[in-house]
Amino acid sequence: MAYNVQIAETDFEFDVEPGETVLDAAERQGFALPYSCRKGVCNTCKGGLTSGDVGVRGKGDVSGPATGVLLCQARPQSDITISPSSVEKVDPIRRRTVPARIRRKELVAADVVRLSLRFPIGTRVPFSAGQYLRVTLGQGMTRNYSMANAPRKNDGCELHIRVIDGGRFSQQALGALGTGDVLTVEMPFGTFGVDRSLQRPAILLAGGTGYAPIRSVIEAQVDEHTRRPLHLYWGARNRDGLYDLDRLTELAKRHDWFTFTPVLSEPDEGWTGRTGLVHRAALADHPDLSAHEVYACGAPAMIDAAEAEFCSDGNLDPAAFHADAFLATEEPVPASAAQPTSEDNSS
Ligand SMILES: Cc1cc2nc3c(=O)[nH]c(=O)nc-3n(C[C@H](O)[C@H](O)[C@H](O)COP(=O)(O)OP(=O)(O)OC[C@H]3O[C@@H](n4cnc5c(N)ncnc54)[C@H](O)[C@@H]3O)c2cc1C
Ligand code: FES
Repeated sequence: MAYNVQIAETDFEFDVEPGETVLDAAERQGFALPYSCRKGVCNTCKGGLTSGDVGVRGKGDVSGPATGVLLCQARPQSDITISPSSVEKVDPIRRRTVPARIRRKELVAADVVRLSLRFPIGTRVPFSAGQYLRVTLGQGMTRNYSMANAPRKNDGCELHIRVIDGGRFSQQALGALGTGDVLTVEMPFGTFGVDRSLQRPAILLAGGTGYAPIRSVIEAQVDEHTRRPLHLYWGARNRDGLYDLDRLTELAKRHDWFTFTPVLSEPDEGWTGRTGLVHRAALADHPDLSAHEVYACGAPAMIDAAEAEFCSDGNLDPAAFHADAFLATEEPVPASAAQPTSEDNSS
């Protein structure tokens, strides 16, 4: 039997099929709730349960009123009322599955592949800067990768993929793929991205290939000719990991609203730039973040540490911290279990 979900203080409501999560049901019926990992790890989908009962995977049964309920894991057991941190009505058929041909595959750093994909002629798939796609690997397996290109160029997309030792997609499948091969991708997913209604200065924090969605955000602002102050801190282990340095240097020269600070955790000899953990460099330059928004992307440990230190030491409003954690699709490690190390500059 389907249950009814009401969204508190709105006239929005939708049905949930037996066994379906609140997030899946909302999306199916055109309501966008915040989420990133969909696996109960990142907390992005946390919301209130005003009334009713849900079963939450890994946590058991929860009855309203309750706060901090993970809506990507919650399966209603009665009619419920929820209060998500935000909700937006969207077109439910916007997401599509398309064949994507590899136009170019480049090794841009020792462990990073830049993949340029092209959709069939005449096919455009709209997305927002910061969103990601899902590559189908077969046997029900998928992997998530963020679009790194400007949303305007939606007849294809660019991905930055860190090659992980033993990784089923990033090493094994990707190693065997070449120009002309076709991947099946579903897109767009995710609610990470800058809030364009705000003009407050923003800190963009990227670790390794966490730069991909951030690059899309920056390129979108270039295309839109807006001038919101953006300061990018991009962390990598060494100079080789800063695989888009030329473009960023050019953008920083051309646009006074854009500042770029690269940070190396294992600096090469002769490096005269910033060193250490990327979020600490940002905090050292911006000790008072009370008037900023922060958009962070990369390893979960980097994101956790940045959020904690920015809010406690930098006076950042927790609501102004937005993150996209690159969680592994299988064997997810709870972000809170990890501690930041120099590795976290290189998701
Ligand atoms: C929303 C989202 C967006 C993402 N966007 C990107 C992106 O733009 N670029 C990108 O490179 N990755 C991105 N990822 C991560 C990506 O989806 C895969 O998890 C990653 O590429 C590993 O897949 P794999 O099949 O190669 O490895 P798997 O076969 O899944 O894993 C192999 C082994 O490596 C471990 N592992 C998996 N991921 C990592 C990691 N990041 N660091 C260290 N060990 C790991 C696994 O636990 C496992 O033991 C994103 C993840 C999410 C959730
Ligand atoms: S989207 Fe629910 S915990 Fe990440």
